[in-house]
Amino acid sequence: MMQLPNYKEAKLRNKESIVREEYQLDQNLSKIGQGKTYHVKTYGCQMNEHDSENIKAMLEELGFTEEENYEQADLVLLNTCSIRENAHNKAFGMLGRLKHLKEERKDLMIGLCGCMAQEEGVIDEILHKYQFVNFVFGTHNLYRLPILLDQNMKSQHQEIEVYSKEGNLIEGLPVKRASLYKAYVNIIYGCDKFCTYCIVPYTRGKQRSRAQEDILREVNSLIQEGYQEVTLLGQNVNAYGKDFDYDYRMENLLEDVAKTGIPRVRFMTSHPWDFTDKMIEVIAKYPNIMPSIHLPVQSGSNRILKLMGRRYTKESYLELFYKIKSTIPNVSVSTDIIVGFPGETEEDFLETVSLVEECKFDNAFTFIYSPRENTPAAKLEDHISLEEKEKRLHRLNEIVNKYFLENNQKWVGKIVPVLVEGKNTNGKDGLYGYTDTNKLINFPGSESLTGKIILVRVCEAKTWSLDGEVCE
Ligand code: SAH
Ligand code: SF4
Ligand code: F3S
Repeated sequence: MMQLPNYKEAKLRNKESIVREEYQLDQNLSKIGQGKTYHVKTYGCQMNEHDSENIKAMLEELGFTEEENYEQADLVLLNTCSIRENAHNKAFGMLGRLKHLKEERKDLMIGLCGCMAQEEGVIDEILHKYQFVNFVFGTHNLYRLPILLDQNMKSQHQEIEVYSKEGNLIEGLPVKRASLYKAYVNIIYGCDKFCTYCIVPYTRGKQRSRAQEDILREVNSLIQEGYQEVTLLGQNVNAYGKDFDYDYRMENLLEDVAKTGIPRVRFMTSHPWDFTDKMIEVIAKYPNIMPSIHLPVQSGSNRILKLMGRRYTKESYLELFYKIKSTIPNVSVSTDIIVGFPGETEEDFLETVSLVEECKFDNAFTFIYSPRENTPAAKLEDHISLEEKEKRLHRLNEIVNKYFLENNQKWVGKIVPVLVEGKNTNGKDGLYGYTDTNKLINFPGSESLTGKIILVRVCEAKTWSLDGEVCE
């Protein structure tokens, strides 16, 4: 059976309401993986990481067990990302390696899912050049994995099933979480912003919010299991509830999640457009909502922001930035920046530099613009050479790094709450964790502190981390 992605359909945003459906495993399939192992490789964002947690649990319900080394696994599944060309290259590179592996082991099963599966061009390549891939499913039919796998095992034919329209909202998927202390919780799927450079609205479909009862139930059961932190996930979490026919929005959800009493609440990502004053008030009011906000700006040039379709100006971004800074005590703000958008001049770039010098971000993820299939920006003329773009990225990184260090230095001598995540990779008996403001901190201590929120005194600041000592 084949069902291939179609961009025209993926672009549609209709008014059909979203139907909630409960995942149920067909019991006839519960043994198809018995005696077999799997390895899932995940690329891309937290949403993909969380999808992989669902995929792993679904596979284990079929009898598969996890194998750390992909070369030993009976089933290798790539959960892919489309955001930039290098994410593509990594996944295709991995497919190349798997091809060789399959030449030695004919019974190796290979699957591909995630955002790349939603791309017409990728599926075209899989059909023509990667026929050894056993099965492909998209972001809208994750829950169909057991059925597709079973069909492929029986038929031995390549199975491609990608829905271009989002379909139902599936609740109750099993989950194998990567951490015992921190959990991802989806609150909204898809994105309706259509920034001109971005492929996500096509790969993840229209905006759909999960019902607050389902979210709160999940958070409450995480508390029962001993979780210390939840991160509420969405491509644009501030749009939460905008698709409901009743009035319940991100500020209401944040408040209700805070009231569950879970020690730490985080959320990402926030688009500056939907960030309301009420949200800022709620974040400031509840001590268990962490004072750390990821607020991607993308560019400091109004001309480029307009071409990007970001719906705000440098001035309105700064207004929001200062409101957040002045209302939420000690808040840290991080951002994403794209350099080399088509037609970005030196003056445009300097506008970005001046914004960075004003905001002094605590952290920033910086990228060179990468044209994506079917997006409006990919059709814009671009005279700037890759060499020049690389130079700009380098110049920008020097500046953002300087501010990471400056911000970190402000914490030296202070005592901060840290959720301990475990032993660090420094070798010596060190632990690591994250502060409330989302800073990585290393410190000596006993492993028995793992999973606890403790007080740590900051002793030294580095560019990307802090060093500290446990307060007795
Ligand atoms: N929904 C989030 C962003 C998700 S993608 C938001 O709007 O804030 C994460 C980051 O990848 C983006 O913020 C952007 O900086 C970067 N990005 C997205 N598309 C890109 C492209 N075509 N080229 C380079 N960077 C891109
Ligand atoms: Fe992409 Fe813009 Fe949506 Fe973020 S808000 S996922 S950058 S379209
Ligand atoms: Fe990549 Fe898809 Fe996430 S494109 S960044 S995995 S939503």
